[in-house]
Amino acid sequence: MIQAAIMGFGTVGSGVAEVLDKNAAVIARRAGEPIELKYILDLRDFPDSPYADKVIHQFETIESDPSVRLVAECMGGVGAARNFVRRCLAAGKHVVTSNKELVAAHGQELLELAREHHVSFLFEASVGGGIPILRPLTDDLGGNVITDICGILNGTTNYILTKMSREGAAFDAVLRQAQQMGYAEANPAADIDGHDACRKLCILADLAYGRAVLPEQVPTAGITSVTAEDMAFAAAAGLHIKLIARAKQLPDGRVWCCVSPHLLPGEHLLASVDGVFNAVLVHGNAVDDVLFYGRGAGKLATASAVVGDLIDCARHLDRHKDIGWAAGDGSYLAPVDALPQRWYIRTAGAPLSGCTVLPAAVPGQSACLTPPMPRAAALELPGSAPALSIFPVLE
Ligand SMILES: NC(=O)c1ccc[n+]([C@@H]2O[C@H](COP(=O)([O-])OP(=O)(O)OC[C@H]3O[C@@H](n4cnc5c(N)ncnc54)[C@H](OP(=O)(O)O)[C@@H]3O)[C@@H](O)[C@H]2O)c1
Repeated sequence: MIQAAIMGFGTVGSGVAEVLDKNAAVIARRAGEPIELKYILDLRDFPDSPYADKVIHQFETIESDPSVRLVAECMGGVGAARNFVRRCLAAGKHVVTSNKELVAAHGQELLELAREHHVSFLFEASVGGGIPILRPLTDDLGGNVITDICGILNGTTNYILTKMSREGAAFDAVLRQAQQMGYAEANPAADIDGHDACRKLCILADLAYGRAVLPEQVPTAGITSVTAEDMAFAAAAGLHIKLIARAKQLPDGRVWCCVSPHLLPGEHLLASVDGVFNAVLVHGNAVDDVLFYGRGAGKLATASAVVGDLIDCARHLDRHKDIGWAAGDGSYLAPVDALPQRWYIRTAGAPLSGCTVLPAAVPGQSACLTPPMPRAAALELPGSAPALSIFPVLE
């Protein structure tokens, strides 16, 4: 019997308790022995929960109990979560987490601490919720040079863009609806400004390219600039607008990263990923394209990934799982203009010269696709009026 603790009994933490309980037999078979939930740390009590008797409020209870070998951090944030994770690792406990903010900002430090104390620090649930992506990227695709990672990594923004596209509705109206339905937070900034997708991209790039990529180093634009007019032009041309997080290795070895709304041709593998679903398209130089698709969030889907990590730790209880990446100053990152791209540009007036004109969709406006070029050059193309919107095209 291996004893485990959950820190944070919210959406993900309660899902982890439920999965450990209802799938106990299959988990025991795969882990080699049963995993027993001993403690649940939270600020509140949960008198109506079937796990009420496991709830504690003092972190030190977990830290000082040597029988607890596995800890799932499901609190979120980088304050108490970082402190508790550090102390669990230092106390010789394996830690798994769903917290992308923590991993994107402090992953390297926590992985080093795990190595020092011969335990594992795993975070499959931090990218793509229930989608297995980090372990396949580092294990199954380990023999590849990863040349491109393209992801729809945020369900809230994908839901909003899908609704805007299907209903011709404006961004603000769809955001309000999404908040009423619980698909968007009361404070949606981390999602709609692209920061959540950026954190997940950093974790993917860290693992794929072996050097730290920090959120503040990645040019990031969210979806607030996507309008109903853009959706109308895209639809008339058979194109889709998606928030794409992309990390690409350039021929000179530098890594190019960006989060931005992109236009995708209808036949692109990510074009039909709609609603709250996530997908990651990985290109390896041996395997070619591999697509990972599934639920990027939600109680049980995210718990599925957390429990998968707990099982991995349980199977290697006396061993440190050696994943990680080197620190760095970002000198291996390429500026955004290092990758020439085609650009969608919408203007009030005639289309820009030298571009492919999109079918008319909005009276008094035009839209076109430029040839491949840096963004700055696209904005200087001779034309009738300044750009109202400009987004890259994902080929
Ligand atoms: N929800 C998802 O679908 C999803 C998917 C993938 C990843 N994640 C990530 O998973 C993490 C948890 O998300 P969630 O949606 O489960 O959040 P949540 O529902 O807000 O749950 C967090 C829980 O942790 C508790 N908590 C916060 N600080 C604590 C502390 N210092 N000591 C003890 N308990 C504390 C909270 O208590 P109070 O409520 O009293 O503050 C709450 O019960 C986040 O990092 C999130 O980004 C979530």
